[in-house]
Amino acid sequence: MQRNKTVAKHVFLLESYFLVCYKYASLYLQMGFYNMARKKLIAGNWKMNCLTEEGVALAKSVAAKVKENKFNCDFLICPPFTILAAVKKCLRGTKIALGAQDVHFAEKGAHTGDISPLMLTDLGCGYTIIGHSERRVDHFETNELICKKAVASHSAGLTTVICIGETGAERDAGKTIKVCQDEINGSVPNDATAKNTVIAYEPIWAIGTGKTPTAADVQEVHAAIRKALAKKLGRATANKMKILYGGSVKPNNAAELLSLPDVDGALIGGASLKADDFIAIAHNSCK
Ligand code: 13P
Repeated sequence: MQRNKTVAKHVFLLESYFLVCYKYASLYLQMGFYNMARKKLIAGNWKMNCLTEEGVALAKSVAAKVKENKFNCDFLICPPFTILAAVKKCLRGTKIALGAQDVHFAEKGAHTGDISPLMLTDLGCGYTIIGHSERRVDHFETNELICKKAVASHSAGLTTVICIGETGAERDAGKTIKVCQDEINGSVPNDATAKNTVIAYEPIWAIGTGKTPTAADVQEVHAAIRKALAKKLGRATANKMKILYGGSVKPNNAAELLSLPDVDGALIGGASLKADDFIAIAHNSCK
C-alpha cells in the first residue's frame, strides 16, 4: 500500500515536471526566441545585369571581401543564367552560395528556352529564386506555377527563395497581409521545410524605388507571414524558416531593417551590383 502511494507520488511529480517543461517550451516557441537559431542570409539578385567580364569582376570582389571579414551570416548571389558557371569558379573556397533567378518545373523535355532544376544543380547552384514579382508580372506567373517550380526544385536538392509581396495599390487598400497570406498559401508547397525554403517579402512598390516601408510595418508583415507559415507548415517549421526582406535595401537602412525580430536577412537588387555596398549591408547588419 505504502509502496503504491510512493509510486503514485513519483508519477505525479514526473507529470508535473513534464507539464512545466512543455509550457515553457511552447512559450519559448511562441515568443519567437527560435530566431536566435536563424542565421541571417544576405542574398544578391543581380537580375538581368552583367556580361561575363563584369560579373566575374563583381563576384571576385565580393568573394575577396567575404573571405577577409568574419561575418556571422550566410551569403548567396544569384547572377543571370548566362554567367552562373563563370561566377561559380570565382566562389570556390568561399562560403558564398550560388543561385539562379528562375527555374522550370519539368525535369527535361520540350521546353524551349527553359532551364531545369537538375541543370542548375549540375552547374553548382544550391538555390533558385522563384516567383519574383518581375516574373509574376512580366511572365504572368501564378501561385500554382510557382508552387510546381518549388516542388521540382526541392526534389532536385535546390533551396528555393519564394518571393511574395503586395503592389502599392494593394497596400493603399489595406490588403498587404491578405495578399501575403494568399501568396504563402498558394506558392509554398505543403512539404516545404526550413532547409529547402526561404521566403522573401518584397513589397513591389519598394523595389528599385528607394522607398521602404517603416520598420514597424516590415515587422508586422513578417510576423503575419510567419503566422501564415505556422498555419500551413506547423509552428516548429515556421519558427525555423528564414524570411528575408527585399526592396531598396541599402547600407544606410539595412541595420534597422535586419535587426527586426522576424527579419532574417535581405534580398538585394541594385545594391548587390556594387561589391562595397553589398558587403556594407552585411557589415552593418550581421554583428
Ligand atoms: P532593389 O534592391 O533594387 O530594390 O531590388 C529588390 C529586389 O527585387 C530583389 O529581388
